[in-house]
Amino acid sequence: MTSPTPLPTPVAATPADTAAAVALARRIPKAELHIHIEGSLEPELIFALAQRNGVALPYASVAALRAAYAFTDLQSFLDIYYAGASVLLHEADFADMAWAYFLRAKADNVVHAELFFDPQTHTARGVPMATVIRGLTTACARARAELGISSHLILCFLRHLSEEDAIATLEAALPFREHFIGVGLDSSERGHPPTKFERVFARCRELGLRLVAHAGEEGPPDYIWQALDVLRVERIDHGVRCLEDAALVARLAAEQVPLTVCPLSNLKLCVVSDLADHPMKRLLDAGLCATVNSDDPAYFGGYLNENFAQTVQALHLTRADVVQLARNSFTASFLCDEHRQALLKNLEQSIEKE
Ligand code: HPA
Ligand code: ZN
Repeated sequence: MTSPTPLPTPVAATPADTAAAVALARRIPKAELHIHIEGSLEPELIFALAQRNGVALPYASVAALRAAYAFTDLQSFLDIYYAGASVLLHEADFADMAWAYFLRAKADNVVHAELFFDPQTHTARGVPMATVIRGLTTACARARAELGISSHLILCFLRHLSEEDAIATLEAALPFREHFIGVGLDSSERGHPPTKFERVFARCRELGLRLVAHAGEEGPPDYIWQALDVLRVERIDHGVRCLEDAALVARLAAEQVPLTVCPLSNLKLCVVSDLADHPMKRLLDAGLCATVNSDDPAYFGGYLNENFAQTVQALHLTRADVVQLARNSFTASFLCDEHRQALLKNLEQSIEKE
């Protein structure tokens, strides 16, 4: 009797393979779909704006502020993030913040970005909606003209506030309807399920806005089901906890619902204890449309390429994984089909140039 042919042992990625995958990730054009623009405020810019606007900060120096960036969970981050945003008062502040992000995005070969903004963080301090949206729109137009980066704005409702507050925010933003492509849901997830915002999302849907929501970052898989079935969102922001629910993974895979995953954010907010345990590889292997994003790069230790580099290193992602992630970033975007196809073609040409 002949013994069965042994199965080939999987070939481990060599350090050279991983280095090549990192280099590829850095070099190719990508879209970023999950970046809170207020989370791109670097400590230096927070201090410069505080001085320009005469705002007192509860930190003595840039170093003292940076030293406070030791988070234990989402809420411990949000408390500091909202304090940082308090220096934003005038249209130029919003424009300067977003322009600084676009310069960093350019350095990382980001060619399209979809920026979240949190108007309630500003309107609650007396900053008019017009100031926020006009400032951000100015930077988006400049990024297109001077850097060749296209962008969309996505207005996020703060889920720790009431649905009535979200509805009032939507009404205040409607005079600027042409400047934002969709709405999202962010802030403290636990205890604030998507169902709380069913009516305002239904209204946004009627208005033709694109819909996304944070779900399954700290919250349970049930919040992802709710975001899909009650809010009827097109993308899930984070969504990493879907892996706890096999039926949910099957649904996300079958419908190719994009997940905008943020590895360094998950590490810094203790969603994972080590990047080597990050679920990104499992999400890809399950056939999900996962993307890599920076979330709040000034707070979490890196912009898009740093997220790619550290994730590829920690999980030994392959060049094929990197290509898949970059393709997903365009397919999951809210670009019109013509622009999407052009950017996908540009990506394929860039991959071939090896
Ligand atoms: N989760 C929820 N709300 C947020 C985040 C996040 O990662 N960043 C900014 N607001
Ligand atoms: Zn986020």
